[in-house]
Amino acid sequence: MAYFRRFKMEFDLTATPLTEPVLPPNYRWASWNTGLVDRHAEVKFHSFRDEIDSLVFPCLAATDGCQQLMRDISRQSNFVPRATWLISYHSDDPWDYPFDCATIQGLSRDSELGAVQNVGVVPEHRGQGLGRALVLQSLLGFRQAGMRRVSLEVTADNRPAVALYRSIGFRLTRTLYRPMPAAAAIGY
Ligand SMILES: CC(C)(COP(=O)(O)OP(=O)(O)OC[C@H]1O[C@@H](n2cnc3c(N)ncnc32)[C@H](O)[C@@H]1OP(=O)(O)O)[C@@H](O)C(=O)NCCC(=O)NCCS
Repeated sequence: MAYFRRFKMEFDLTATPLTEPVLPPNYRWASWNTGLVDRHAEVKFHSFRDEIDSLVFPCLAATDGCQQLMRDISRQSNFVPRATWLISYHSDDPWDYPFDCATIQGLSRDSELGAVQNVGVVPEHRGQGLGRALVLQSLLGFRQAGMRRVSLEVTADNRPAVALYRSIGFRLTRTLYRPMPAAAAIGY
């Protein structure tokens, strides 16, 4: 059987100072409310559908898979709303609708350990610091919720994401091997 190599990484909230991230002009934060499930799901789909993680987790390659995943995450008793954020782009033209372009969700593993889920920025809005801002904003939310540490998993071959987490201060704690779904194994 083929496997994806995954890194488990952790951030120590007690040892690292955090400052509130500032978004580039025209981008705005949306804090969590239940009416945002489908908007998060839509951004998740557009962020992940052509990426390696949609091979690891095939639900990320489909709109309905992302909607179901988003519903599942937000209904869990360990969902952390304060660590869950959406970023939208508001153009200067008042007739344009805001465009949702980045998403992150948080869960807790226990009273001290948070877990980042599915950091995603749609391709057209990457490289402007939104990914970094999302993770920092989520870390602040975990800290406000009383967590001391935050973990995540990332596919080892996902270089942009590994570089992002390392640059923020996440450290490798374990290497895991996740069985490759059959369809992914053919094309990988
Ligand atoms: C990973 C991802 C969230 C980064 O979003 P982004 O908004 O482009 O990232 P930022 O602009 O905030 O970049 C922050 C840091 O990430 C790293 N990074 C981002 N894109 C990178 C790339 N293409 N190559 C290497 N490093 C990269 C760099 O360290 C960068 O810091 P720098 O700008 O000082 O060099 C985005 O590429 C994405 O959504 N990917 C698809 C979904 C995914 O795989 N998510 C991760 C799941 S674990």
